[in-house]
Amino acid sequence: MILLTEYQQRRERILKSLDGAAAVVFAGEGSGSSWKPHAHFVYLTGIRNETGASVLFDPSADDLKRQCVLFLRPVDPEAQRWDGCRDVIGAELKMRLGFRVVARTNYLPQAITGAARRTKRLACLHSFAVYPAEVSPDLAVFRKVAERVTGVAIEDRSQLLPQMRAVKSSSELATMREAVAATVAGYKAALKMIRPGVTESAIEQTLERTYQTHGGTGLPYDSIVGAGLNGTILHYNQNTAVTKAGDLIVIDSAAEVDGYAADVTRTVPVSGKFTKEQREMYELVLRAQRAAIKVVRPGVKMCEVDAAARDIVEKAGRGDAFIHGIGHQLGLEVHDATPDGRLKPGMVITIEPGVYFPDRKFGIRIEDDILITRHGNEVLTAAIPKTVQAVETALMAAC
Ligand code: GLY
Ligand code: MN
Ligand code: MN
Repeated sequence: MILLTEYQQRRERILKSLDGAAAVVFAGEGSGSSWKPHAHFVYLTGIRNETGASVLFDPSADDLKRQCVLFLRPVDPEAQRWDGCRDVIGAELKMRLGFRVVARTNYLPQAITGAARRTKRLACLHSFAVYPAEVSPDLAVFRKVAERVTGVAIEDRSQLLPQMRAVKSSSELATMREAVAATVAGYKAALKMIRPGVTESAIEQTLERTYQTHGGTGLPYDSIVGAGLNGTILHYNQNTAVTKAGDLIVIDSAAEVDGYAADVTRTVPVSGKFTKEQREMYELVLRAQRAAIKVVRPGVKMCEVDAAARDIVEKAGRGDAFIHGIGHQLGLEVHDATPDGRLKPGMVITIEPGVYFPDRKFGIRIEDDILITRHGNEVLTAAIPKTVQAVETALMAAC
């Protein structure tokens, strides 16, 4: 659990790092149960149910309390009949959200314009969008402000939040370990039920139900359970096929706890034993994964980690089958905010080499979550069977 004081400390750090510039972080707009606020906003507030909200950082405010203000959209009595009641602004709400000043979003334009007039510096914290997507939300607002206030400079501080988010605090790591524990339980339960004839969806349901009974609070992404040819489709998630003897199943699925993700892939033989060809390719991917994990430590670049795995797959003549990158940052998002530069202690990344052979109707991916420690790394997801022997033993226990 992340305490309110930790969110306050994160905001204090932003305020200091802005070095006198003003900035704003938006939750984003949306509605319905599938809406998720922007992860930067969640990271700074812990608030997940306030569409349209934002946080303004204004180091120029004379009143220290007003240097960091939470803006919430106005209460709408008619909307409340559909979506439930929202609190009025008062001491109770401020205490619960950990903000000393809370205002309504209709005052945000005025507040940003005032901050721009005083600071003359507006700092973009959201990542820049790639064209032709819409311009990132803070840059879009700052451009409008700069048309109305002269002499305002717009600065790129888009690395600040990725740098902070990538290095996990002890409470974030504890939460991620809970997500891993629920994921381990899910895989152990799923491996026990795999045999020819079981459906991909039955495996998915066992995984996801077990996550929930072991503390999982959600799913960080749609589970992939792909047997045979389906295991060669990177984003397969229909999970409707019936498995058959001889298939390999690629299972890419994990639990989330309080918004923090795990991300795990295992590839297992439906019949309980790899064929000679499957085993050879599995051992290759495993060797590549181990080589990559071995180089993970502070100071290393992800491209070096990628190269360690890719060299092995390429030397085996299978480079064309390894069609994706080696991994990514993990945290509040499954593909978490990624700062430029080298790995640092406290970061959590995935290492997930894979090879895919549609002509042979099988794919193999092995994915673990790796914490970068002071001198090396820790494989957080090591408890999920991975060697040929461990996988076969876990499956045989099912028969
Ligand atoms: N499950 C998404 C990924 O492995 O990147
Ligand atoms: Mn991944
Ligand atoms: Mn994955």
